[in-house]
Amino acid sequence: MGDAGSGDAERLTYRLKRTAHCGMVSLDQEGSEIILNGWVARRRDHGGLIFVDLRDESGIIQIVFDPRISSEAHRTAEDLRPEFVIAVSGSVRKRPPGTENPSMPTGQVEVAASGIEVINPSLTPPFEVKQDVRADEKVRLRYRYIDLRREEIHECLKLRHRITKAIRDYLDGLGFTEIETPHLTKSTPEGARDFLVPSRIQPGRFYALPQSPQLFKQTLVISGFEKYYQIAKCFRDEDLRADRQPEFTQIDIEMAFVNEEDVIALVDGMLEVAFNVAGKTYPRPVVRMSYDEALENYGTDRPDTRFGCRMVSLDKCFEDTEFRIFQEALKRGGAIRGLKVEGGGRMTRSEFDSLNRVAQEMGAQGIVWFVKTSEGLNSPVAKFLSITEIKNLVERAGLEEGDSLIVIAGPRNMCDEVLLQLRAQTAQKLGLLREGDFSPVWILDFPLLEYDETERRYKTLHHPFTSPTDDSLRIIEENPLQARARAYDIVINGIEMGGGSIRIHKSEVQERMFRVLGITPAEYEAKFGFLLEALRYGAPPHGGIALGLDRLVMLVAGRETIRDTIAFPKTQSATCPLTGAPDEVDPAQLKELYIRTEFE
Ligand code: AMO
Repeated sequence: MGDAGSGDAERLTYRLKRTAHCGMVSLDQEGSEIILNGWVARRRDHGGLIFVDLRDESGIIQIVFDPRISSEAHRTAEDLRPEFVIAVSGSVRKRPPGTENPSMPTGQVEVAASGIEVINPSLTPPFEVKQDVRADEKVRLRYRYIDLRREEIHECLKLRHRITKAIRDYLDGLGFTEIETPHLTKSTPEGARDFLVPSRIQPGRFYALPQSPQLFKQTLVISGFEKYYQIAKCFRDEDLRADRQPEFTQIDIEMAFVNEEDVIALVDGMLEVAFNVAGKTYPRPVVRMSYDEALENYGTDRPDTRFGCRMVSLDKCFEDTEFRIFQEALKRGGAIRGLKVEGGGRMTRSEFDSLNRVAQEMGAQGIVWFVKTSEGLNSPVAKFLSITEIKNLVERAGLEEGDSLIVIAGPRNMCDEVLLQLRAQTAQKLGLLREGDFSPVWILDFPLLEYDETERRYKTLHHPFTSPTDDSLRIIEENPLQARARAYDIVINGIEMGGGSIRIHKSEVQERMFRVLGITPAEYEAKFGFLLEALRYGAPPHGGIALGLDRLVMLVAGRETIRDTIAFPKTQSATCPLTGAPDEVDPAQLKELYIRTEFE
């Protein structure tokens, strides 16, 4: 990383205190004497003149060191290197004709330096502070303080701040109260593992970090805070992805005496504000789709609705088919699912082959493709299908000339998973995704429960505090899978941005719900007794939602990962390269906590 160069180690104060900011210097100040403080972005020597791009948080300006103005300053400037912290005094002047830089906001001016102070030298940074660094993300996170000097990441965090502020102002304007809830608490079931914190004072007992403030926010509404919100840190020990961190932030909301429409309207208004802050438009009215419709047409409850390419169930077209692959799939209780690609007829055979390989890598037998032409239906398997089957297929999928249909047969979940992946790849290939497109959709009418085959029990699609609809309440014991939830998710561009529900506000219904989930009274009293009790002391009907703030910023900032929206994120393997967390601890600390670690 090289020698840091000399600095005045005997002094911590500096003499040249700033009177102006780099990015704000303009022609209006021509002739005036200013002092700038900042970081050296770049230094170039040009025929006796030294040019330094000086950067502070407001932007960059060009400084010229001319030995005819100050030979001493010029001499000092010879030793400047990137990321040195310096102070420069000098006069603002118009750049000579032909040397202006229209791509820089300060490109018309420069500062002719008369004095310089090296406040603190810098080691050679491991990567340049510029757009599009090539450095590995691990290195960027190891030196995050340098990475955060880069404009694109710096701006992401500034945008996050502005969005958070706008959301606070929006909710404040509507009479919400922000209330903090504990981080050292009991487990909240949101479907992930808990992070546990051992208690020293209560040996053998553990706090859990909250997966969400769910139970506290319901308790607060019962406390008479009719409109609660919190920009809340949540902790979930789960496998990480581009849009998942073990520690993330929710915009957490709960309200008394509301129904689904109230929450949806509130959130649409809030997202509109958040998008506006970023200079983007949140398209309204927002499309609504039932859970069943989403699964049928997109194979997921997080549909990316920016483009067509819908899925279609083709079982009915092939009930009596002689075509072995389809026949087998149906016989085994599987499905035949198609992905209709509008204009997909222009895909080449090798493009279909490459999708086929992807499908096989994901566990499918392969894909069968069809292309609708003016003459009929083109497909390597057309000869195995009857005329009626082909007619039904074209009709059911709504194929028009120039469209293609990619078909997979097998277990329904597998078909949808593979087609979802092919759908994303096809959209990329055909250029169906336009930058800056936003397509929000509210997903409604969720089932209340699903059956977990491995654990052999019912699980909630959201969490156990979600209210069933009135009609479903009667059947949650006899016919649990038919029960519907009063839940809603907001999905934007295929990303689950938020989810919430109207809650169960009657303790006896909450207890029934726990029992349907196979939780014994002793277990639910131990885990959620405090909530059940609070529900018995005048709990109003209530409901709410939580939105992922990191995901929201990622989306409006057009970033690929939420790591870019978090100052100090964890890597894919849940570590912090900057601090080295998680780390081993002093054995004495463990002893105090009555903890012994054992590794095989
Ligand atoms: P849910 O579990 O759907 O609901 O979470 C709400 C939103 O939080 C975001 N999110 C995450 N963001 C980054 N990393 C993660 N690991 C992560 N997990 C979730 C998502 C998600 O939509 N208590 C309920 C809300 C309620 O019912 O009011 C809850 O937490 O954007």
